[in-house]
Amino acid sequence: MFYNNNLLVNEVVMSDFTRHARTHTCGQLRAADEGKEVTLVGWVHRRRDHGGLVFVDLRDRFGVTQVVLNPQIDAAAHELAHALRAEFILQARGKVSHRPAGTVNEKLDTGEIEVYADHAQIISQSKTPPFVIEEGETPSEAVKLKYRYLEMRRGPLARALEMRHRVCMAARRYLDALGFLEVETPMLTKSTPEGARDFLAPSRLSPGKFFALPQSPQLFKQLLMVGGMDRYFQIVKCFRDEDLRADRQPEFTQIDMEMSFVDEEEVRRVCEGLIGEMFMAARAIKLDTPFPLISYADAMNRFGVDRPDLRFGMELAGVSALAAQCEFKVFKDALAGGGAVRGMAVPGGAAFSRKDLEDITNEAIQLGAKGLAWIKVTGEGYQSPIAKFFQTATLDGIREALGAGAGDLMVFVADSVKAGYAVLGALRLSLGHRLGLIDGAKLNFVWVVDFPLLEYDEEEKRYVALHHPFTSPKLEDIALFDTDPGKMRARAYDLVLNGSEIGGGSIRIHQREVQDMMFRALSIGPDEAREKFGFLLEAFEFGAPPHGGIAFGLDRICAILTGAESIRDVIAFPKTQKGACLLTDAPSEVAPRQLKELGLKRDLS
Ligand code: AMO
Ligand code: AMP
Repeated sequence: MFYNNNLLVNEVVMSDFTRHARTHTCGQLRAADEGKEVTLVGWVHRRRDHGGLVFVDLRDRFGVTQVVLNPQIDAAAHELAHALRAEFILQARGKVSHRPAGTVNEKLDTGEIEVYADHAQIISQSKTPPFVIEEGETPSEAVKLKYRYLEMRRGPLARALEMRHRVCMAARRYLDALGFLEVETPMLTKSTPEGARDFLAPSRLSPGKFFALPQSPQLFKQLLMVGGMDRYFQIVKCFRDEDLRADRQPEFTQIDMEMSFVDEEEVRRVCEGLIGEMFMAARAIKLDTPFPLISYADAMNRFGVDRPDLRFGMELAGVSALAAQCEFKVFKDALAGGGAVRGMAVPGGAAFSRKDLEDITNEAIQLGAKGLAWIKVTGEGYQSPIAKFFQTATLDGIREALGAGAGDLMVFVADSVKAGYAVLGALRLSLGHRLGLIDGAKLNFVWVVDFPLLEYDEEEKRYVALHHPFTSPKLEDIALFDTDPGKMRARAYDLVLNGSEIGGGSIRIHQREVQDMMFRALSIGPDEAREKFGFLLEAFEFGAPPHGGIAFGLDRICAILTGAESIRDVIAFPKTQKGACLLTDAPSEVAPRQLKELGLKRDLS
């Protein structure tokens, strides 16, 4: 029986040959296996008809092996060889032979051998795939997402998932060795404040009530510490209904950790070891630890963002004091209105054309600036429509503050301090990329520390927690709760890699009185606190250990490890920019009966 795709009902074919579906994977055989009788199963990658012989590249996750079919053997073999199409699954039994001299394929691990089939059958047929299953092909994003299972066969995604698996295994081994326990926490739960919108799940048994899917296991991991679990971790899905970007998905995975009786330094030490193991497992890279620290204030002043990309310079500098000495109205007005003038030097930018300058000005405006002032530093002096408003000594001072040399361009934003950071921070990154200043091979880790505890929300006219409401203030700042809460610093830390926030955490508040002060500062009244977090506050009254932790963004780490542009490329079944799954067509309508059971009515007005 040669050609049969109805195996399960065909007893004749349920021979050893079928049950022992394969003896080797398609990536396994080597020259040393010559002479062995083997059975392989795999997808038909390519099929080449060489008159007398048909060569089939048989592919599975492990590799590609060349199988040789001889249609001359009998009619069935002939039929099979000609029925074969791309992505059919073929099972072939035969002898491993060394390839004839001159036909060895150096590019394949199995390239020294081929298998001469004496018996073969089609296990499964395939429609013509919507794209060619080849490494070099780049199907459109929509097609890749709809046919995710075919995209997996193409190679890069399978390798990314394999790396992701190795990273997770390394994390588990490392944390297990340090006494961490992996504990699962509920998915149907109460809102956990991480600053995003919740995904809700209506309860059938309690009509009108809803569960929230966790934005993180934050509250439960703190309860685990009160429960004496001491060291917890979990590789866990989190759900956040927020606007999506390349580094954000509505459901994503954290490596979430919490530890009792630790301070910031111990958490960092454990994390550096963890990250080190993960990078070793994925890319055999040994990292330099400990990672450097930068304060939030320094990160903002020098790079305009709280997740600085330190792979290149182009640091920002405040030049308000010098700008105050000029006659340029834009600067003077901004300063008079309580704003600041901030700038940076663009290496080689003195060579920018008028068009280049227009382009970066427009880019700055798109980023929210009112305009972008510029001054070229040339061998002869300063060149700019606004140079005439400055004394040369002032320009010399500004040039020095920005670290600009002859050949560079100085650019300035006059605006509120916050707007200046935002525009120049983003412009720095985009120019850094465009001017080729960023070494893609570099891995630059930095801990950002000394975050403010609170941030004033102009719209809501109240303070909000920069991290979350359970983050402890620095002990030396506690007195500021009553006098100047905006000045308080948090015991929080973020780990930043190449300008991407890959993890964040803090030492928590474990004293009820401090938590009450925090809620007061956040204008969360006792009733609201009880309703939202009563269970946690009560737990803190039963002997809460000092504790702290962190969560790493597994998807972001894997994206950086594989050099992927988007975290989608390291997730088996990701969602689109609009939060939809093109493969399953979710989200989708539900039957009216389901809504009724839940006591819900649709109102799309
Ligand atoms: P945080 O909100 O900083 O902290 O999240 C931790 C890390 O998770 C990753 N991340 C995301 N990755 C992909 N898509 C998203 N939408 C997304 N949102 C966050 C980031 C981030 O650094 N409970 C705290 C941790 C703690 O305090 O221990 C928390 O969730 O890499
Ligand atoms: P204007 O006086 O508006 O013609 O602007 C003169 C120059 O200053 C132009 O190059 C503007 O792009 C630039 N400019 C305008 N507003 C700002 C600002 N807030 N900060 C920096 N440069 C600005």
